[in-house]
Amino acid sequence: MYSVGIVTISDKGARGERVDESGRVLTEMVSAQGWEVAETRLISDDFNGIVDTLIELCDRRKLHLVLTTGGTGFGERDNTPEATLEVAERLVPGLPEAMRAESAKITPRAYLSRAVAGIRKHTLIVNLPGSPKAVRECLAVILPALPHGLDMLAGNAHECARET
Ligand code: MTE
Repeated sequence: MYSVGIVTISDKGARGERVDESGRVLTEMVSAQGWEVAETRLISDDFNGIVDTLIELCDRRKLHLVLTTGGTGFGERDNTPEATLEVAERLVPGLPEAMRAESAKITPRAYLSRAVAGIRKHTLIVNLPGSPKAVRECLAVILPALPHGLDMLAGNAHECARET
């Protein structure tokens, strides 16, 4: 079973002015996979706060996967991709590429998300956009690929070539 951290990044959410619907959707979808939601956080768009939270969940909590939602657009306070790039040691461009490509079949606004994905030590971090609809659509695209990637990070995947 994989341990997963869910981080909602929203100034309004952190101030209690908006209900965290996207975090709830992520919790539902992750639990439906049979994975453990080990941490849920609701934090503001503050760059340093995002960096500290990601480092804590990767280095101290040693989670397999951290999913963020929000802060990937063009807003002045949208810092999530930059904070993720700050902590990631290796990038995984295919995941956000796939999310944007598939989501663009639903809305051209999909291309406005600057989401990134990367690896820090043994943790995969994936940014998702902020709306519950976008979270649902984007996570559904990458879910089938995640177990093999998480197995590789944990050192448990032995043979790639024969499996699809
Ligand atoms: N992706 C999907 N699949 N569905 C969506 O509705 N909304 C887009 C985009 N990605 C959307 C999506 C919009 S309108 C924006 S502004 C960007 O994600 C960034 O969202 P964020 O700033 O909440 O992270």
